[in-house]
Amino acid sequence: MLTKKMTHQYPALSSDQKKELSDIAHRIVEKGKGILAADESVGSMAKRFSGIGVENTEENRRLYRQLLFKGDDRMKKCIGGVIFFHETLYQQGDCGTNFVKMIKDKGIVVGIKVDKGVVPLAGTDGETTTQGLDGLAERCAQYKKDGADFAKWRSVLKISENTPSSLAIMENANVLARYASICQQNGIVPIVEPEILPDGDHDLKRCQYVTEKVLAAVYKALSDHHVYLEGTLLKPNMVTAGHACPNKYTSEEIAMATVTALRRTVPPAVTGVTFLSGGQSEEEASINLNAINNCPLLRPWALTFSYGRALQASALNVWRGQKENEDAAAEEFLKRAEVNGLAACGLYEHSSDGSGAAGQSLYVANHAY
Ligand code: 13P
Repeated sequence: MLTKKMTHQYPALSSDQKKELSDIAHRIVEKGKGILAADESVGSMAKRFSGIGVENTEENRRLYRQLLFKGDDRMKKCIGGVIFFHETLYQQGDCGTNFVKMIKDKGIVVGIKVDKGVVPLAGTDGETTTQGLDGLAERCAQYKKDGADFAKWRSVLKISENTPSSLAIMENANVLARYASICQQNGIVPIVEPEILPDGDHDLKRCQYVTEKVLAAVYKALSDHHVYLEGTLLKPNMVTAGHACPNKYTSEEIAMATVTALRRTVPPAVTGVTFLSGGQSEEEASINLNAINNCPLLRPWALTFSYGRALQASALNVWRGQKENEDAAAEEFLKRAEVNGLAACGLYEHSSDGSGAAGQSLYVANHAY
């Protein structure tokens, strides 16, 4: 409701604060760059490591992250930001240099996962909200001092006959907006992530419809909370059919559905859209991003990647916890990063038939992070 005293009389941010936020967001999504999501929680790392027979210890997590972060000059050409998990923000490489410094020295922006995971919304069909608002301002202030300039918060929605409910849409939109507001007050660019899970047998149209409803609610909430859109990034799912849908769609169809949904709901003021990979194979995630950047519709935002699984699956497979595999694993990561950098410009010319390791589905039912 508009009241007599308009909120512009109580500005949320100074022009210096706005400039800082907008500059950070632009640096992360410079042309041909995207985000490495390396913020898997300790529990998620257990799942990643169990697949390759590696024990989930702090030292193994450090060794694995080091392999991703030590990337040579090729990394800074295609990676604009790296999302850390709390533990990683305070770890060092073998050389004694903090991981934060290693990343910043490449000119890459450091980000931090600040949500504390999903919890059930009682009385719904298994829907969730995301917790972590308590003490968030203090944590953001500390993370900013410790080198982080952007943050991530993941909300989760699921498609079934009766979901997402309007309660889940509203609650998650509001919690994302509250998080975004707190981040911006502390000089941190919020990545707003309302992930719609690929679980289910719904078709492409249904995913597009739900994505539009969810994003519309998110941008209404961000406006209500006076969030400065130029100083934000959106991390959505691509619009794809459910994992168990019998119909298969081309990357051009996925791109058209995705860009159409975004155009209907995401203001052009938003600096960038950084898609999650959501269980797509490495190749699929690259091919779909490339198609999105060739979609014949006006696209006023940077459209790039913020991939976890689709940047790391091959690297993990090659590494398998063995020192002698570190360099080869680092190469696998850089290879995917470069491919996605090209896809972010619509310039990826793929030759693969999708049958190699990069073509393997990375789908996990009801994925947690
Ligand atoms: P995926 O790319 O593996 O879906 O994960 C990205 C992410 O950060 C989810 O929050």
